[in-house]
Amino acid sequence: MLLPNAKEEASFDKIDYKRHEFSLDDNYKNKYKGKKFFLKTYGCQMNEHDSENIVGLLKEMGFEEVEDYTKADFLLLNTCSIRENAHNKAFGMLGRFKHLKESKPNIIIGLCGCMAQEESVCDELIKNYKFVNLVFGTHNIDKLPILLDKAFTNNKQNIEVLSRESDLVEKLPVFRVNKYKAYVNIIYGCNKFCTYCIVPYTRGREHSRKREDILEEVNSLVKDGYKEVTILGQNVNAYGKDLYDDYFMGELLEDIAKTGIPRIRFMTSHPWDFTDKMIDVIAKYDNIMPSIHLPVQSGSNKVLKTMGRRYTREQYLELFDKIKKKVPGVCVSTDIIVGFPGESEEDFLETLSLVEYCKFDNAFTFIYSERVGTPACRLKGSIPMNVREERLQRLNDVVNKYFLENNQKLLHKTVKVLVEGISDKKNMYFGYSDTNKLINFISDKQLELGSIVDVEIDIAHTWSLDGRVK
Ligand code: 5AD
Ligand code: SF4
Repeated sequence: MLLPNAKEEASFDKIDYKRHEFSLDDNYKNKYKGKKFFLKTYGCQMNEHDSENIVGLLKEMGFEEVEDYTKADFLLLNTCSIRENAHNKAFGMLGRFKHLKESKPNIIIGLCGCMAQEESVCDELIKNYKFVNLVFGTHNIDKLPILLDKAFTNNKQNIEVLSRESDLVEKLPVFRVNKYKAYVNIIYGCNKFCTYCIVPYTRGREHSRKREDILEEVNSLVKDGYKEVTILGQNVNAYGKDLYDDYFMGELLEDIAKTGIPRIRFMTSHPWDFTDKMIDVIAKYDNIMPSIHLPVQSGSNKVLKTMGRRYTREQYLELFDKIKKKVPGVCVSTDIIVGFPGESEEDFLETLSLVEYCKFDNAFTFIYSERVGTPACRLKGSIPMNVREERLQRLNDVVNKYFLENNQKLLHKTVKVLVEGISDKKNMYFGYSDTNKLINFISDKQLELGSIVDVEIDIAHTWSLDGRVK
């Protein structure tokens, strides 16, 4: 048994990450032919992409995916720790799996992802969830075949979670869910340690993939006909700082743009690391989408300081204005937390006034959730839950107003849409615009999925737009 250690996860010791290429041991190839797996993924795009690797590995082992967990031989939850409700959902699901295991004792139940990296979660699994056979973390996905094989052999509780990885594994098998849009990781982990956030503990320190590995992956996606890549990292614009002296996110974005992939998106950016070079490159290349996710978290300098965000309201707004000025037609989205310890009504009003100024195109709004082991947990001035809920409601009323207003500005305009799917209604398609807005549209002609078409907008809603192909 290998358990995570919170102190080690928080340490800043320099690690010399070794890079190795994965290949599946012949003993495991197709060993589980005829067996079925069920996988449920919670959380962010990083987790979704990890799941694409997990599915890739399981398929190479011979497993087949099923959507009904009662039909599976291996049931796995890829979990998220970011807020308490993500925890509760995963534990709730484990309860259902437990019943199934009572009638089918040979099934294997697994838990991986961010929750597995938490010491307190592993303690709980050992004490009260003995029926969970396999626990592995975010740093050893490549060991899944060995660990799963062991679990099928012993049917006991096998916990193998590393506090930090020492290897950066390339060429993991990948089974991509979407045939036109792909995720590409460029950097793992986060060094920012915002005081509310558990990510630096569950995902480790920042470590970038080599530029040639990233470009090779994007080039092969282009060859396979992919139309869009989303470049992923907890903090994408810290790219390269741990690896190079003169090659960072701006340079990488430019090289990715030169591969000719039709659409490039990236997330998430920390305002502190957003360089002028990045803005210039985004403005220069048509295939870098004018859509930037730039979490602000709060509009109050006092709260930003206790959150450890490293910028002031004024610095955020200066960056926001610069991006708006230099990148034509850009849409900016954000993340905002309400009810952080010590947030007064005045602080909250500062957040509302920042939203009134920025008029975000999209905003993910959250109630502050205490995470065990993060510094914010120890702060005084906890805000009562009813006040947090009331502030979220008021904030949502304002952000929604601007979503609709921004969408209304697109009425009778033409937008470019990547055709992603056909909806149930006849002749109706859907896809996302350059600026990442969901567009439902009609076309009398049959459209090829994965093509990029011009759509004229007829109706604006708060979270989507309706139109027709031109
Ligand atoms: N409570 C509430 N929201 C959080 N986020 C991160 N940690 C917490 C927390 N403890 C939000 C931030 C981040 C987004 C991914 O999740 O807004 O940008
Ligand atoms: Fe968490 Fe993002 Fe802050 Fe990193 S930058 S600690 S992932 S909120």
